[in-house]
Amino acid sequence: METEAPFVRWAQRVETALGQALPSASLSPQRLHAAMRHAALGGGKRIRPLLVYATGSIFGTEERWLDAPAAAVELIHAYSLVHDDLPAMDDDAMRRGRPTVHVAFDEATAILAGDALQSLAFEILAEAPVASELRVAWLRALSTAAGAAGMCGGQALDVEATGQMQTLADLECMHRLKTGALIRTSVRMGALGGSVDEGTLRLLDTFADALGLAFQVRDDILDVESSSEQLGKTAGKDAAQAKCTYPALLGMDGAKAKLKELDLVMHDALAPFRKHATALWALGKLAIHRTS
Ligand code: IPE
Ligand code: IPE
Ligand code: MG
Ligand code: MG
Ligand code: MG
Repeated sequence: METEAPFVRWAQRVETALGQALPSASLSPQRLHAAMRHAALGGGKRIRPLLVYATGSIFGTEERWLDAPAAAVELIHAYSLVHDDLPAMDDDAMRRGRPTVHVAFDEATAILAGDALQSLAFEILAEAPVASELRVAWLRALSTAAGAAGMCGGQALDVEATGQMQTLADLECMHRLKTGALIRTSVRMGALGGSVDEGTLRLLDTFADALGLAFQVRDDILDVESSSEQLGKTAGKDAAQAKCTYPALLGMDGAKAKLKELDLVMHDALAPFRKHATALWALGKLAIHRTS
C-alpha cells in the first residue's frame, strides 16, 4: 500500500532520534538510564510521532525538522505509560509485551524514569534546530498538552472516577484530556512546522480531537474484546478495576456507534486537504480499526 512506506520510514526516524537522545545505559546512573530506555525504545505503535510527520507532510515540511517534536511527544507518552502502570495508578505488570518498568526495575526507579523522560522531551525541543519562534511554539503546545490542562489533568479525573459511573459528558472530557491532548498536540506541532493559517489549524484540530477521542474509545473496546497477547498489556483491566469507560457506560454497541460518528467527523475535517492528507487519514482509520 502506498501509505505504508512513509510509516515505516517515520517510525525508523523516531526510533533513531530516541536512541540518540536517551542516555546510555552504560553511564551512571545506569539503572535509571536502563529504565528510561526500557520504557521508550523498541515498542509501541508510535502513533503520536507518525501524526507529527503525517501532518508535516501536508505542508511539505522537511522530515529532519520534525524529528524533535516527534521524539518529544513520544517521550511524554512513554513517561505517561510508566506512571499509568504504577501500583498507585492502574497497577499493571505488562506493557508493550514486556514487564512494566516498576516490575522490571523497581517503583522508585519507575517514578524517576518517568520524570526524566519528561524532562528529556523538553530538552529535545529546546535544542531543536529550527527558528526560535517555532521552538517556543512547540514548547508551549507540548507543555500545555502534558500538564494539568491536558494529560495529567485527564489522568487525575480517571483516578477520581475509578469505581464510579460518570455522565457521558464527563467521560468524554476525561478521554479528551488523558489521551486526546497529546494526540491533538502531535498534529498541531506537525502543522506549526509549515506556514499554516488559523482556518487550517482549526480543521486539523477538529480532526485530531476526533482521532484522540476515538483512540481512547477503541482502547476501552480492546480492553474488553482482545487478549493480553494481542495487546501486549493486560486485557480486562478496566472492568476489574471498575474504570468508567465507553463500553461500561454505553455498552459495546454504543461504544462502536461512537467510533462511527467520530470516523465521519475525521472524514469531513480532512476532506479539504484531499490527497495531501492521505497519510493522516490512514492514521485516523488506524485509531478506529486498530487491533492492538
Ligand atoms: C496506550 O497508548 C495508552 C492510551 C493513551 C490509550 P498506545 O496504544 O498509543 O500505546 P503504545 O505506544 O502503542 O504502546
Ligand atoms: C492511559 O489510559 C492514558 C494515559 C495517559 C497513559 P489507559 O490506562 O486506558 O491506558 P492503558 O490501557 O493502560 O494503555
Ligand atoms: Mg489509566
Ligand atoms: Mg492503564
Ligand atoms: Mg486502557
